[in-house]
Amino acid sequence: MWGGATAANQYEGGWEEGGKGPNTSDAMTSGSHTVSRQITWRNTATGETGALPVYAVCEEGLPEGLEVAVVDGYYYPSHTATDFYHHYAEDIALMGEMGFKCFRLSMNWARIFPTGEEAEPNTEGLAFYDAVFDECAKYGIEPLVTLSHYETPLALVNKYGGWKSRELIDLFVRYATCVMKHYQGKVKYWLTFNEINMMSMGSFMAGGLTDGSPHAKAQAAHNQFVASALTVRSAHQISPKIMVGQMLAYNPIYSYSADPADHLLAMERERDALWYADVQVGGHYPAYRLREMERAGIKLEMGENDLELLATYPADFLSFSCYGGSTVSLRQKELEVASGNLAFGMVKNPYLETNAWGWATDPYCLRIALNELYDRYHKPLWIVENGIGWSDEVKADGSIHDGYRIDYLRKNIQSMEDAVELDGVDLMGYTMWGCIDLVSAGTGEMRKRYGFVYVDRDDEGKGTLARSRKDSFYWYKKVIESNGEDLD
Ligand code: BG6
Repeated sequence: MWGGATAANQYEGGWEEGGKGPNTSDAMTSGSHTVSRQITWRNTATGETGALPVYAVCEEGLPEGLEVAVVDGYYYPSHTATDFYHHYAEDIALMGEMGFKCFRLSMNWARIFPTGEEAEPNTEGLAFYDAVFDECAKYGIEPLVTLSHYETPLALVNKYGGWKSRELIDLFVRYATCVMKHYQGKVKYWLTFNEINMMSMGSFMAGGLTDGSPHAKAQAAHNQFVASALTVRSAHQISPKIMVGQMLAYNPIYSYSADPADHLLAMERERDALWYADVQVGGHYPAYRLREMERAGIKLEMGENDLELLATYPADFLSFSCYGGSTVSLRQKELEVASGNLAFGMVKNPYLETNAWGWATDPYCLRIALNELYDRYHKPLWIVENGIGWSDEVKADGSIHDGYRIDYLRKNIQSMEDAVELDGVDLMGYTMWGCIDLVSAGTGEMRKRYGFVYVDRDDEGKGTLARSRKDSFYWYKKVIESNGEDLD
């Protein structure tokens, strides 16, 4: 299934419309390649307000007495984003014109349950996604819906400390069950948590955590695994046709040198991501992760049936994001540092070209990733994010010549096709990331664009929000029409 992917926190906007409550992304300011995004807070005793860099909250937590809050005087890109809320019909028509078979989007949990704890869902929120799915059906586009893409209702963060609390398990499963039932017949494919393994590095986004301790992160991941297993159980009770997938951030890790010690390091860094799939798809904690937790003195708070639930209800398929391989070396300090998706602690790969954000074009990553994951889990796979952020220029006549994007996608799609045709990997679909321009999750910028469709909006929130087709729009239409045969 060819298509494209988006996420509500970066695309939907309408943050206070239709009864939606605030969520974590609504309290995140914009940043840039060199300046971190910030999380805004309020002191519950004095009412004083301020902001802290996202990485500081993820590493050190939010100081005692502060709560996450949307406060005056800051610019929050998620509030309007690129306004899918008011442009969905036009946007889905553009996807239909490209021939999409599938559209990955995320549902905003706080649009359905504004604080996460209401007794009944918000009917206006349900109606919005009904309209979206009806529009998809007009063009024969199958929705693939992420239940939580980097957002948690803010009320649950301030009341329970986000996913470190087991309270969130039942609240999430209630939300998931409610929407899977409501959209039965309209939505077959669901994902639970976007890039669940980002809990290790971006725990505020991945789990609404304001506690930076390794214990809180491990507990939050465990609670999400249990919530995922219960969601799988609930999905299969609703209808055997529904499939629930895991979503993993996965870049193959390369060893910089032939030194076996570098190779061991590469294996360890791979495992940093893979243990999450070992649990959610494989059904149990792997030995190396249990030892790692033991060494770190982490003891998980477990429900009586947790391990049985994980083993009985693994994800039906494994979806993942992959933007390019990452490279590690023990001689990291002497080498040039890499930047780009998941590049923390990585070195620059001398064999790959990079763009202004340091993102490399890797012509082999999808084939390597697909084979690694298929060999290990033997479950159907779905590439739900792949693409490249670039600052596009609109010419005087309105045209946008994004040959660099076509070049990146051509190489990546070829690599994916090799895995299917030459290696026999079972691949369900490919949804290119950010098919219509949206806000960057990492930097909060607009200038770092991914789309086949340009949206007139800048880093300060100015612009008409008008949509226009880039060169890659016509190219991707041709790719889909030929089922990937014509990549020229
Ligand atoms: C993935 C996320 O990690 O990368 C997306 O799931 C994100 O939400 C994408 O947008 C690209 O990263 P960025 O920082 O360029 O938006």
